[in-house]
Amino acid sequence: MPLLEIQSLSKKFGRLSVLSGFDLTVEAGEVLGIIGPNGAGKSTLLSLIGGSALPTEGRILFDGEDVTRRPASWRARRGIATSYQVPRPFTGMTVMENLLVSSTFAGGRRGRSAHVAALEAMGGMGLGNYANTPAGDLRLLDRKRLEVARALAATPRLLLLDEIAGGLTEAEVPELVDMVRAVASSGVTVIWIEHVVHALTAVATKLLCLTYGKILAEGDPETVLNSPEVLSVYLGIDPEADSEAGHIQNREFEHGA
Ligand SMILES: Nc1ncnc2c1ncn2[C@@H]1O[C@H](COP(=O)(O)OP(=O)(O)O)[C@@H](O)[C@H]1O
Ligand SMILES: [Mg+2]
Repeated sequence: MPLLEIQSLSKKFGRLSVLSGFDLTVEAGEVLGIIGPNGAGKSTLLSLIGGSALPTEGRILFDGEDVTRRPASWRARRGIATSYQVPRPFTGMTVMENLLVSSTFAGGRRGRSAHVAALEAMGGMGLGNYANTPAGDLRLLDRKRLEVARALAATPRLLLLDEIAGGLTEAEVPELVDMVRAVASSGVTVIWIEHVVHALTAVATKLLCLTYGKILAEGDPETVLNSPEVLSVYLGIDPEADSEAGHIQNREFEHGA
């Protein structure tokens, strides 16, 4: 049984149709990378999986269970966690306090069990030296680590990452890749949306390109990046006019070289 199964999912905002008839299957242990132009519906898809938005039509099965209409808090306890581009820690609280909030309220743990989950997430993300540091005092890369650790403290089975590399320098991106690799090798299934394509291809077992709510290509990362459909989407974009798309294009050529 797949860990996640999405069937005929549609999402409309008023008259704007963001996703329609969307199907996706994610097996346990996969790292699914998602790319696609701005406005493609990538973040909307993650919101529907995480439960912060509800679909107009369709079904979402998690571990065989229909979670389509369940609230985000319920899904968090079943094992779906999300990390966002802009970390949202409680800035006045320490790293450890933030992780305890997550293991307790998102993870549904108490007492010692909540502490263990928080400590493991902190150690796993290399934040052990910052346990007592207020989250607001961390540099950006460590806030990113905390953002992922916060999700991990809820001991998820499925981790959703929405452009967490945003704002990092090229030199910092490999550290993030290592973090995600560590998460994946601990047995957590990952869906990672990212503009920094080389970060994705370094860990993704599968890649999906989304445009206007439709799957343009899906499969082995190399094959997807070199598919005529994906190339046509990015080749038409002037890298000077759109730096993010240009980034993809450049990486794509490197990748294909
Ligand atoms: N809450 C919302 N209300 C109205 N329109 C939205 C909302 N969220 C997203 N959209 C629109 O849905 C489309 C897809 O957005 P999004 O999923 O954020 O794309 P992506 O993450 O791929 O850039 C965009 O046109 C966006 O403006
Ligand atoms: Mg987005």
